[in-house]
Amino acid sequence: MALLPLRLFLGVTFIYAGIQKLSDPGFLHKGAPTYIGTQLHGFANGTPGGFLLRALAIPHPTLAGVGVAITEIAVGILVTAGLLTRAAAAVGLVLNLILFLTNSWHTTPYFLGSDIVFVFAWLPFVIAGAEGQPSLDAELARRAKAPRPSRRGAAPAGSLVTRRVLLRQALLGAGAATLGIAGIAYAAKGSYHGAGSPALGAARRPKTRRTPTSHRSHHASHAHAKSGVPSGAVRLGPSNALSRGKAATYRDPSNGQPDVIIRDTNGQLTAMSAVCTHAGCEVTYQSGQLYCPCHGSVFNARTGAVERGPASQPLAIKHVVESGGEIYAVPS
Ligand code: FES
Repeated sequence: MALLPLRLFLGVTFIYAGIQKLSDPGFLHKGAPTYIGTQLHGFANGTPGGFLLRALAIPHPTLAGVGVAITEIAVGILVTAGLLTRAAAAVGLVLNLILFLTNSWHTTPYFLGSDIVFVFAWLPFVIAGAEGQPSLDAELARRAKAPRPSRRGAAPAGSLVTRRVLLRQALLGAGAATLGIAGIAYAAKGSYHGAGSPALGAARRPKTRRTPTSHRSHHASHAHAKSGVPSGAVRLGPSNALSRGKAATYRDPSNGQPDVIIRDTNGQLTAMSAVCTHAGCEVTYQSGQLYCPCHGSVFNARTGAVERGPASQPLAIKHVVESGGEIYAVPS
C-alpha cells in the first residue's frame, strides 16, 4: 500500500503527458517550435538511443508522435486503474528508458534528467504489479473466483465467470477511455497560428562574389574576409529583412535543421542553432533571449550559453555573413 501514491502519480503523469502532446497545436505542425520531427532529430543527435529513433521514428514523425501520446494515455489509464499493471508498467519503463538514452542523455549530472528517475519508479510495479493495493487486477481475480447465483436466484450454481471474459471487458473499457481522452485532447488543440520569429527565405547560393560591407557578422570567417562571400555560402535574404533587435529563422544549409539569426541593437548579426539542447524543441527569440517553449530553458542570444535549465549545453553558434545588402549562411 505504501507504493499506491507512486502508482497513481505515474499513471496520472502519463495520461497528462499524452494529453499535453495531442493538445499542443504545434506538435504535429512542421516548422512549429514544438514539432515532433524537430524534437526527434534533437533526441537522436549524438545519443546511444539515436539509432532506434532514426530507424523507427524519424522517417514517420507524425505516426511516432501520435503513437507515443496514445501509448502514454493507455499506460496511464491502465496503471491508474491497476489493470494489467505489470505489463503496463513494463511499457512505461521501456518508454522512459528510451527517453533516458535519447532525450535526457546530454543532461549532466544524470539525476537532473527525470527519465532515469521514472525508470526506477516503474520498477516495483514491473516486479510486483499492484499487489496489495486497490486495483482492477485484484477485483477481477475476486470476481472470477466468486460463485455466480443460478438463474432462479437459488443456491450458487458453482460455475465461474472466466477471468478472460472479465479482462476483455475491462480492456475494452480502457481502450475506449484512451481513444476518448486522446480524441478530446486532439479536438481541443485548435489550429497552429505560428510562433516565434519569422523565417528568412529559402537558402540560395549567390550568383557572383561580392565585396563585404562593414556589417559583416562577428562570427564570419576571417579567412574569407577579403574574398567576399565564402564559397558554398547560401543567400538567406536581404539585410533590410532583419531590423535591429529582431530575429528570424532559417534552415541550416548543412543539415536542414532550424537556426535562428539575431540582429542586436548595434546592428551586429549572430546566428545559432534553434534546436534546444535539452530535448530538441525549437527555441524562439523573446525580449533579447532565446526561450524554449517545451520546458522553459533560456539561452543567451549572443553566445548561446544556457541561462536557465533544464538544458545544460549551449546552442551551437552558426556562421553567417552580411555582404552587399544580403545575408548569407555559411555551411559548417
Ligand atoms: S526541449 Fe526541454 S527545455 Fe527545450
